[in-house]
This record gives sequence, C-alpha cells and structure tokens, in this order.
Amino acid sequence: MDRGELVEYVRAQADGVISTLGPDGSPQAAYLPITATDRGELVLDARTSSRKVANVRRDPRVAVVVGGRDGTTLQCEGTADLPDGADRDACARAYLDAFPQFEASLADPDVVLVRVRLTWARHGDYRPGVSSSQDVDLRVGIRRVRADDWRSARALRLDALRDEAAGLAFLETYEHAAAEPDVFYQGRTARAADGDEAAQFVAVDGSDWVGSVTVIAQRAGTLDYHGRPIEQSRATVVGVFVRGEQRGSGLIDRLLETCAQWAGDLGFELLTLGVHRDNVRAQGAYRRAGFAPSGVTFESTIGTEIEMVRHLRPGVQRDTSDNSPPGVG
Ligand SMILES: CC(C)(COP(=O)(O)OP(=O)(O)OC[C@H]1O[C@@H](n2cnc3c(N)ncnc32)[C@H](O)[C@@H]1OP(=O)(O)O)[C@@H](O)C(=O)NCCC(=O)NCCS
Repeated sequence: MDRGELVEYVRAQADGVISTLGPDGSPQAAYLPITATDRGELVLDARTSSRKVANVRRDPRVAVVVGGRDGTTLQCEGTADLPDGADRDACARAYLDAFPQFEASLADPDVVLVRVRLTWARHGDYRPGVSSSQDVDLRVGIRRVRADDWRSARALRLDALRDEAAGLAFLETYEHAAAEPDVFYQGRTARAADGDEAAQFVAVDGSDWVGSVTVIAQRAGTLDYHGRPIEQSRATVVGVFVRGEQRGSGLIDRLLETCAQWAGDLGFELLTLGVHRDNVRAQGAYRRAGFAPSGVTFESTIGTEIEMVRHLRPGVQRDTSDNSPPGVG
C-alpha cells in the first residue's frame, strides 16, 4: 500500500480508534470518525475540553487504528497537532468532504480539528483466505507525467524559475517561460509523457507537485541542447528541481534513480548532466546519486558548467522505489 492507497482506505473506512498519552504517560483511547487529507494526514475533530486535546497539546505522540470491521485494519503511529491557517483549511475541507453532517459542529468554537502526521503505518488484511500485513510506503509518490498534466508542469516550472537558485540552475528565465503559449507546454508535456525520447518524472504530495526531473535521449551524431555535437549516445538529465520543503529529504535521490532506471531500460550506458560550477548543493546531490565530473567543462548562458556522468548497466539500475535498504535489490 502506498500513500494514495492509504488515503483511499481511510476515507472508505471513515472511523477508528486514537490513543493518546495521559498526564502520567498512560494510554487513553477513543473511537471516532476519521478521514484523511490528500497528503495522507489523518483528520478528526474533538472538543477543546476533551482528554485527547489536552494530551496532544502536552505530548503529540499518538497511535491510531483505522477500520477493523471487514477484517482489514490500518495501524498507524505519528504526531498530532491542532492546525491553524491554511493547514486547518485543508483539514476542514477533507473533513467536510467526508462528513458533511458535521458542518455545524466544526463551526462550534469549542470544537477543534486534530491532524495526525504519520511516521509509520501497516495495513493488515485478515479476511477469510487472506493473511497479510504490509508496511505502508509513506513517501511522496513519483510518476511519469501524463499529457494532460501540462498545467501543473507549467506551474512547477514557473515556480522553479523563481527559486533563489534559478540563476545557477536553469538556462531559461521566468519571463521567457511565462510568455510561452499553452500549446508549448501541451507539446512538451505530451512528449515527456510517452515514448523513448524524453521522460519527465514528478514527485506528487497529495495534489501538490513538489519535485521534477526530466531525462532526454541524446543520440550520437546529433547536437545536444547546448548545440554541442554528441559523440556517444547518452541520456541527459535536465530541469532538476525539488521544492524547498522537500530538500534534504532524499527525494532527489529517488527522482534521479527513476531517470537512471528509465535510461538503463532503454539501453543507455551513460547518464549525464551539466551543473553550474558554483551550484555546490546540486553537485553534492549528484555525487551522492553516483555521478562524477567527467573532466569536461563548458560555457552556457548561465556561466561555466561542469559535466557529470554516471555509468549505467543497462536494465539493472537499483530500484529505490521500494523500501529496500541501500545495496539490496
Ligand atoms: C538541486 C536539488 C534538486 C538538490 O536536492 P536537495 O534535496 O536540496 O539535495 P540534498 O540536500 O539531498 O543534497 C545536497 C548535498 O549538498 C549538501 N548541501 C546542502 N546545502 C548546501 C549548501 N548550501 N552548500 C553546499 N552543500 C550543500 C548537502 O549536505 C548534500 O550533501 P551530502 O549528501 O553530502 O549531505 C535542490 O536543491 C533544488 O531543487 N535546487 C534548486 C534547483 C537546482 O539547483 N537544480 C539543479 C540544476 S543543475
């Protein structure tokens, strides 16, 4: 089960038991309606005077069990808070979608929404003839774009071009990209959605796009996107961007590994990229992902770039989309 499936499961079950820690550390449990936001946070409501609200204010650690009646359950652990502002609005939307009958109760100043951000979850299925239990992959999902994603692709690109690192990262300016007509993004997204010439992989947190990497096939005898002749066929990584709140989370490693897998499956032995010589953060991430400077430097519209290369063994890249520890699989 992944995060999206967890959301569907919680919404379908719609209730469960939450256990909080009382003043002396003893567990206190309550049964109540529960739903989930698009991002996979659990949401419930509670009276401000309730034990659970006092408990999570003192100690946010909670355990929750969702479901049970049909022989399936979701055991969860995480931290609870009482969100405000935009976070509360997102929780309220999810809660009212699931439980429109509680609209009046949410307007009551003595009622608060409790949000649980999960650190661990396990799905169990003990229906007749089945006996399985599986840890849920709570990480942000990564997938290839679809042609109809062009609006989100455009929005993420424009945000990337407004990032404070954009001057060292991208060959294009925000003004140039913002002036491109819709048909440009429609075409580019469609080309990256299918086929063997290019693939854009995006990280999606609920409905928010939080990162993107594109990999393009570059055949020997053609020119690369800088206009340089390509001597050996290769796949090249471009448009690397992870939103600030996801930096340092390891998401970039998974995005780059997805590109390596795509290129390896197509038989490419080289995965390359160009990075500005002063973009030390990106260079650090690339080194960790198995790239090394090739010794080639070149001038582009943003200044001096270093070429970095990762050697691929076609078809056998490490798949980091599962929960295997590094080095396994
Ligand atoms: C480049 C990018 C995708 C990297 O993802 P990230 O999640 O930030 O990368 P990480 O933090 O996991 O790794 C960066 C590495 O540089 C190090 N680092 C972090 N901040 C740093 C800084 N200010 N200076 C030097 N090194 C830094 C990190 O410690 C890490 O190295 P480590 O593995 O040895 O610990 C992301 O920062 C980004 O989107 N930047 C803006 C766009 C961009 O520069 N794109 C690349 C174009 S080539």
